[in-house]
Amino acid sequence: MRVAVIGAGVSGLATAQSIYEQYHSTVTPLTIEIYADRFTPLTTSDGAAGFWQPYLYDKGNTKETEWNKETFDYLLSFISSPDSIKMGIFLQSGYNLCSEPAPEPSFKDIVLGFRNLTDRELAMFPGYSYGWFNTALMVEGKTYLPWLMDWLQKRGVKFYQRKIESFKELSESGADIIINCSGVRSGDLQPDPELTPGRGQIIKVDAPWLKHWVLTHSFSRGTYNTPYIIPGSRLVTVGGVLQLGNWSEQSNSPDHKKIWEEACLLEPSLKHARIVEDWAGLRPVRSAVRVERETIKAGSATVEVIHNYGHGGFGLTIHRGCAQAAARLFGEVLGRDHSSRSRL
Ligand code: FAD
Ligand code: BEZ
Repeated sequence: MRVAVIGAGVSGLATAQSIYEQYHSTVTPLTIEIYADRFTPLTTSDGAAGFWQPYLYDKGNTKETEWNKETFDYLLSFISSPDSIKMGIFLQSGYNLCSEPAPEPSFKDIVLGFRNLTDRELAMFPGYSYGWFNTALMVEGKTYLPWLMDWLQKRGVKFYQRKIESFKELSESGADIIINCSGVRSGDLQPDPELTPGRGQIIKVDAPWLKHWVLTHSFSRGTYNTPYIIPGSRLVTVGGVLQLGNWSEQSNSPDHKKIWEEACLLEPSLKHARIVEDWAGLRPVRSAVRVERETIKAGSATVEVIHNYGHGGFGLTIHRGCAQAAARLFGEVLGRDHSSRSRL
């Protein structure tokens, strides 16, 4: 059984891991190959802040909430082990700030110690009248992706740096099942009108005195161009913007200025921080994450494709739950037809 995974961001690597974990002892031989034109540290998953929270708020999708929880609980199970350092995961507390009262978020019962902010806490953030405090997780792509790659490599998974032009190309080169984790560029392989880039830009700064994350929200205005500050293991990520339909991966000065000015209003001590770098990336924004199987015509044959993309601003937050679900779909395909490629 030859499985070809397209994508080496958090979705592709984690799905390969889940498939290996669930089937390596029952499907033999199981060959897993990962094809990507970008590997760590150059994927969107590497550039992301690496904060566990379903960002861009809740769409009321209960399946996604379950996948977020599955991911949180999975990462939490490693937190008190030395592996957590190699994985780039650690607990971190902080503030969600709102300019008006907001409904309780879907992550309320997933994170640790969720509670409303007190008046004393709100007094630290002028302009915000409501909010929550909780402990969440960081999962930093620039550490987590190399850890995943190392985990897979040790189990015989092979990596190929290559742009894939079509599913047919992989089917014709002998792949039995294709796993599509190509993120925001999934539309190049199969048109998807629901998928759109949600451009983001962030500034990484050296500000080791900042220990809590601060995310701001303005739900009534329906905009997510609001500031956030997220301390990481080495640098602090300052954001952010969300520009739907913008495909530019270049950072630009107007966005830098807007992000910086708003963040300095929120946390004036940032003025003393050394700016290290700017980064821009594209969130794969979709009405719902697509974890789905599909039989696709590939020339005169058909090939089974399992899609796992469209994770918006919460790809790290949801990755393990989606990977496990995609791996279960892989099992369904096997159950139906061990050699899924069939002549028409
Ligand atoms: P990607 O990481 O983009 O990986 C896609 C892979 O597919 C790459 O390897 C690419 O080379 C490959 N690929 C695509 N097309 C082809 C092809 N045709 N042939 C070969 N290879 C191909 N999420 C969080 O949970 N927490 C955060 O703190 C967070 N912060 C963010 C901050 C910013 C500024 C941005 C922009 C996003 C942030 N996100 C965050 C969202 C997160 O980055 C994404 O949801 C996540 O990275 C998507 O992962 P992915 O594996 O699906 O895609
Ligand atoms: C973002 O997409 O910019 C983001 C995601 C999660 C937490 C903070 C920011």
